[in-house]
Amino acid sequence: MPSVVILISGRGSNLQALIDHATQTSEYQIRAVISNRPKAAGLDLARAAGLPTAVLDHTAFDSREAFDAALAEQIDRFDSDWVVLAGFMRVLTPGFVQRYLGRLINIHPSLLPAFPGLKTHQQALDAGVRVHGATVHFVTPELDHGPIVDQAVVQVLPGDTAETLAARVLKLEHVLFPRALADLCSGRLRWSADQTTQTVQGALAAPLL
Ligand code: GAR
Repeated sequence: MPSVVILISGRGSNLQALIDHATQTSEYQIRAVISNRPKAAGLDLARAAGLPTAVLDHTAFDSREAFDAALAEQIDRFDSDWVVLAGFMRVLTPGFVQRYLGRLINIHPSLLPAFPGLKTHQQALDAGVRVHGATVHFVTPELDHGPIVDQAVVQVLPGDTAETLAARVLKLEHVLFPRALADLCSGRLRWSADQTTQTVQGALAAPLL
């Protein structure tokens, strides 16, 4: 069964969705959960599910390079096929990204390439878009720009605030993320790279609206 290490920084609601899917379907096995924040609530969810956890507090490191080197060492202990960023709020160095290129994925709360970075729901409201959503993508050295694996869409409703919009998007993230990971694990979708481009190939399931 394909194996996965999941990186988190906080609440862990996407982690829980990934755990639930693994339990229900056996499409992948979660080998460990690693957090860069010792107090991340997601660590308790991982422990409750009986998963090995590790904490690597980024504030204890002098540089991004030093933190990423230690993180890679932790990840490699678990010898996993996939490395999954589920609300992992650290920018990763190019060296780290290169090491896991093609098996490192992230979920981002916007319809990329729109609204990379932080405060994506407020960015969407400020831009006046009528639809918004979430994206699962491969991680490449340029932040929030890797090949898109799958996306899910919500309508922006009159009176939406960043909070109400975030809540609707998050619900969809919990369906989108496990499904995208399972599609990659099964080979239904796959990373394809030549010298100049990186893309995702394969048959997508029905759109998640
Ligand atoms: C999710 O909305 C995820 O898309 C976002 O952080 C939240 C984590 O929530 N990720 C990013 O913004 C990455 N740039 P969770 O801890 O409850 O899964």
